[in-house]
Amino acid sequence: MNFQRKKIALIGGGQIGQNLAMLAAMKELGDIVILDVGDYVNPVKGKALDLMEMAPHGNYDANIAGTGDYKDIEGADVAIVTAGKPRVAGMTREDLLNTNLAIIKDVAAGIKEYAPKAFCIIVTNPLDAMVYAFYKLTGFPKHQVVGMAGTLDTARWRAFIAMELGVSVADVAGTVLGGHGPDMVPLPRLTTVGGVPLTEIATQEQIDRLVLRTREAGTEIVKLFGKGSAFFSPAWSAIIMAESYLKDKRRILAAAALCEGEYGINGLFIGVPVMISAKGIEKIYEIKLTEEEMAQLQKTAAGVKKTVEETQL
Ligand code: LAC
Repeated sequence: MNFQRKKIALIGGGQIGQNLAMLAAMKELGDIVILDVGDYVNPVKGKALDLMEMAPHGNYDANIAGTGDYKDIEGADVAIVTAGKPRVAGMTREDLLNTNLAIIKDVAAGIKEYAPKAFCIIVTNPLDAMVYAFYKLTGFPKHQVVGMAGTLDTARWRAFIAMELGVSVADVAGTVLGGHGPDMVPLPRLTTVGGVPLTEIATQEQIDRLVLRTREAGTEIVKLFGKGSAFFSPAWSAIIMAESYLKDKRRILAAAALCEGEYGINGLFIGVPVMISAKGIEKIYEIKLTEEEMAQLQKTAAGVKKTVEETQL
């Protein structure tokens, strides 16, 4: 059968991967292939079949398959990479570097061979270093490779503000820049609630608390789970990035993009506001930052640089 649908390759079928599959199906983004390795191949075949059986009530048409063979992702339009180990309580994202770098090497080779035109969204931690490694290993153009972190960090920032102020999350707009770690840079000065500046409706004490909670949000969940990290909100974050690409929605989202001089950062993937269109990362927006915000951004960039250097790529 020759379907004309878009094709979405999900590399990794764990907690985030399975939620990606469900969301991609429910949004009818296209046909879906979930790839995993070793003992995880049968489970992803099972998850794919389960999702096919959910379709009559989920009201979607999509072919969903699980596989252990990269050949099956051939020609994918989008690849979302979650393969790798998640954190357990007490670990930093950087503790995952060596284990997940080895996995990303295989993933990069597989995608390069079978889906060289795919828009690639990397989710694996430590995020900023893994997206850099993927970019180096594939040699793909920079507009084709992006890291999912700022979109999630911004979602958390917005959620916590709405929870704190008792307002609709739909009206909270703002952004979070920098690396995906405790030095990330939420920007209260540029955050609004229905057009009202956050700085005018929240106290400095509230804002400081919200910034801190956002920076530690991933760790807050890891502590609750004990084993593993967040999956619902990371999955949705990656899906809206994929959707913006597939439908040329031209959303402006925070995401880890290759900076080549923007914000004074050179050769690193780091969270910045980008436009995601049918061209991929069509544009990076350079915001005029205050001295203090700029200093915070340089601090997170230094942390990302250190982890990137450890990849030796
Ligand atoms: C988190 C992990 C996915 O922030 O990095 O929850």
